[in-house]
Amino acid sequence: MSYNNIVVKENNGITTITINRPNKLNALNMETIKELHEAFKDEEADEGTKVIILTGSGEKAFVAGADISEFADFDVKEGTNLAAKGQRILFDFVENLSKPVIAAVNGFALGGGLELALACHFRIASDNAKMGLPEVSLGVIPGYGGTQRLPQLIGKGRAMELIMTASMIDANQALNYGLVNHVTTQEELLPLCEKIARKISNNSTVAVSSAIKAINAHYKDGVNGFNIEIQEFGNCFGTDDFTEGTTAFLQKRKADFPGK
Ligand code: COA
Repeated sequence: MSYNNIVVKENNGITTITINRPNKLNALNMETIKELHEAFKDEEADEGTKVIILTGSGEKAFVAGADISEFADFDVKEGTNLAAKGQRILFDFVENLSKPVIAAVNGFALGGGLELALACHFRIASDNAKMGLPEVSLGVIPGYGGTQRLPQLIGKGRAMELIMTASMIDANQALNYGLVNHVTTQEELLPLCEKIARKISNNSTVAVSSAIKAINAHYKDGVNGFNIEIQEFGNCFGTDDFTEGTTAFLQKRKADFPGK
């Protein structure tokens, strides 16, 4: 499939999706959000893809936010729809994807850009990265899940301060807050993400996807995460991956998971 705003490249089970509007610091306009939805949907269905890395093109930005020029004249109804649609087709969609998604934060991750990184399963940053939710400086609040996912990751007090002050933190502060898992140089960012992705892809894709579901269950209203864990744990016993994983262990060889 060809896209106007993103580039999708698959390499041996690891697919990198690059948001490609460097002149606009990869700001998320609606067309980009729709293309990302299509790409994530395709990669989820593609048996060849085991892990997805999401990054931004150029050396300056991951994503500098939702495209302000697109919503500057919106009214209440349009604003509500913008958030609802974006959350449904991209942010919640990525969070609940059955395949792991790693955000390679290669520069500014602001507003919708940080919210997109927050929706990914975990984040790795380059040392030039700057992160923040500056929406209140524009007279609005984060609308793509930032008020919910940021406190989940860094705690309520820190999220309150970051959102209310509209300030940015650097990569080391983000590491200190637990917002990103690792910080490295810009040159090493994708290689490090690929190395971790490769390690994940050597494991059972079915079990990894069950783990994503069980972990996410903790954050869903009205859902008992322990019960979901029991269900997902039990389901694993019916998979070919479980048979192969346990057999390989007992035969003292490396597992070759069929992915079923
Ligand atoms: N929406 C739309 N366009 C954006 C954008 C956004 N969120 N962020 C950057 N751009 C555009 C700029 O308008 C500029 O376009 P132009 O060259 O056609 O004028 C281009 O990207 C480069 O940005 P610029 O501001 O010139 O770069 P800078 O290095 O001086 O500043 C930032 C970088 C990230 C500090 C600054 O771009 C910024 O504050 N962006 C908005 C961040 C934000 O508030 N995001 C939350 C949105 S809800």
